[in-house]
Amino acid sequence: EATLAGKDFIDFADFTPEEVYHLLDLAASIKYKQKQGDVYQPLKGKTLGMIFEKASTRTRVSFEVGMFQLGGHALFLSGHDTQIGRGEPLPDTAQVLSRYVDGIMIRTFSHQNVIDLAKYATVPVINALTDLHHPCQVLADILTLKEHHGSIRGKKVAYVGDGNNMAHSWLVAAPLFGMDISVASPKGYLVNEEVLHQALVLAEKYGTKVLVTEDPAEAVAGAHVVYTDVWASMGQEAEQAERLQAFAGYQVNEELCKHAAADYLFMHCLPAHRGEEVSAGIIDGPHSVIFDEAENRLHVQKAILVATMA
Ligand code: CP
Ligand code: NVA
Repeated sequence: EATLAGKDFIDFADFTPEEVYHLLDLAASIKYKQKQGDVYQPLKGKTLGMIFEKASTRTRVSFEVGMFQLGGHALFLSGHDTQIGRGEPLPDTAQVLSRYVDGIMIRTFSHQNVIDLAKYATVPVINALTDLHHPCQVLADILTLKEHHGSIRGKKVAYVGDGNNMAHSWLVAAPLFGMDISVASPKGYLVNEEVLHQALVLAEKYGTKVLVTEDPAEAVAGAHVVYTDVWASMGQEAEQAERLQAFAGYQVNEELCKHAAADYLFMHCLPAHRGEEVSAGIIDGPHSVIFDEAENRLHVQKAILVATMA
């Protein structure tokens, strides 16, 4: 089970298809055990330090509950209340925490912070969202797809909206899982060039398709998953008004979803803004699986914790 023992979980680009499929299978079996009421505590006596420099509902609760269910303990470390907020260098924080805890989860702004933390930490580091990536969420989304559609390979995901951390993690994950991906964003809000390049290289290697367009209908054509996220992410609150204008025409609504496959799933990492990036009819409608995605955060993160820390 512990094939990723001691490894970090930061970016899908660090993994092979075998490794990510292994995590998914592990998540499914851990979920099954929990639903059966089995006690499964491979992390008895272990502690996870959870650094949060941004707000969170799902991530905090699911990691904390997950560690408890696995027999371990989780510590909530707010950026504000630790010395991190007062400028203690990350390499020092990494080395100090490594003397106390068995794994570190971090949610922060710059992706480089996570890379630096992992470089100096001697315990596994898990990326719980940066401005560039949110891999835990995408793993939960892909488990949700598998549960609803039975298979993953050959499916198409369409991401409509801001070229942000969700779009980036999906771009890299899709080829690894054997999926096609299309991303539709307005000019000025396109995905990161480097991440797109990584995705194109992986798509070539694994024989999948990657499309970036400004046309939401083109992106959604035939898609099995229609995905969107907020137009202003954490840290971009001041750009809210400007972004509302820029993203007009990029709402996922009934009209746009007519282009998707008949049995498409609507996904959103949450939190959502009904009436902005998605219409209420879609997010609260029959194709929406948003709460399954949220639940699956718990199960996939337990898999990540067991694989890296057990
Ligand atoms: N989707 C997600 O990561 O939610 P939180 O910000 O509530 O953790
Ligand atoms: N793109 C969003 C995702 C939140 C889970 C943000 O970074 O705020």
